[in-house]
Amino acid sequence: MIRINENYTKLKASYLFTDIARRVTAFVAANPTKPVIRLGIGDVTEPLPPVCIAALHAATDEMAKRETFKGYGPEQGYAFLREAVAAHDYAARGCAIEADEIFISDGSKCDCGNIQEIFSLDTRLAIPDPVYPVYIDTNVMAGRTGANVDGRYSGVTYLDSTPANGYVPAIPAVATDLIYLCFPNNPTGAVATKAQLAAWVAYAKKNQAIILFDSAYEAYIRDPAIPHSIYEIEGARDVAIEFRSFSKTAGFTGTRCAYTVVPKSLKAFDAAGKEQSVHALWNRRHTTKFNGVAYPIQKAAAAIFTPEGQQQTRALTDFYLGNAQLIRDAMAKLGLPCVGGDNAPYIWINTGRDSWEFFDLLLNKAQVVCTPGAGFGKCGEGHVRISAFNTRANVEAALARIASALK
Ligand code: MLT
Repeated sequence: MIRINENYTKLKASYLFTDIARRVTAFVAANPTKPVIRLGIGDVTEPLPPVCIAALHAATDEMAKRETFKGYGPEQGYAFLREAVAAHDYAARGCAIEADEIFISDGSKCDCGNIQEIFSLDTRLAIPDPVYPVYIDTNVMAGRTGANVDGRYSGVTYLDSTPANGYVPAIPAVATDLIYLCFPNNPTGAVATKAQLAAWVAYAKKNQAIILFDSAYEAYIRDPAIPHSIYEIEGARDVAIEFRSFSKTAGFTGTRCAYTVVPKSLKAFDAAGKEQSVHALWNRRHTTKFNGVAYPIQKAAAAIFTPEGQQQTRALTDFYLGNAQLIRDAMAKLGLPCVGGDNAPYIWINTGRDSWEFFDLLLNKAQVVCTPGAGFGKCGEGHVRISAFNTRANVEAALARIASALK
């Protein structure tokens, strides 16, 4: 008799955004005349930058001719894209990252979810709360946690992000092995200073641990003092893996392209206590389970690094940050404390009420979809996340509706 992976039974019945989509679909079916505005999942609305479109067209034409046609590409990505990333995202910021330490992929969600499989099952986890659900769920699936009791999995060190610590968690008092960090943060929009990241790097060094640093939202940082990459911190090459995505930087949520940086100096240990190269392990996994991102998509991604591409993507992130400012201003007027939205596309609102109840209230009274904080973890209770990813007209309409619903 075929048996299931029992670890799956520890998970919540469905993925957070699937759950929300189901509720919204039911609402729309019951209220077909009430148009819903979605500020829940962080999905972009604006078209791809013109440089990306031009590169996509040109690369598609190459695929139409035998002389320029491409079959399988390198699993790790084409050199033209890896080199552009190394030069623009790292060398330009003084980070020593080589092109062959960059693995191009079809998304940070997949990479953040898959990376855990190269580490042992008794790896001790440090996971923020609230958190992007992929980090915890994929470890539950792998069997690295116990059961979920009162909204928390046993065997995990939770890193609480609360109003009291400005939503930047403190270093845990206990030793852990694999630390998930995300800055600018999803869902809170909080950012970490250089000193805060340096403390994490020191903690990881002391414990021979590894930091998984998700910086999918770095393009939204406007404060020049805030680091864009963990590798801006001295010594981070030896203790950190970084995930980056073109999804929110350049509108690639439907186009799919991202990358993960695994420095060659990063080591983990085998059962005999011998050092092993994490880069070699990830390369082994990647080449076995992945066949690379489509050539035209990688060409479109590389176009982002041209001077026009840089201008166009900056305009795109500026546009969403403009939405974020409107959302922050509207929440201030309503007397609802919030963080995020200044260096991140998410606004984290302290509603002081049950977060699913607040979600239902906004859906029923304003036909606006937000994300209930409790869906991101226990510390998310009392909060909701509003995403700045939408058209200006929709954001303005949503804010007017929220204001009248909460009157
Ligand atoms: C979110 O809404 O948190 C993001 O869209 C999730 C993702 O990037 O997968």
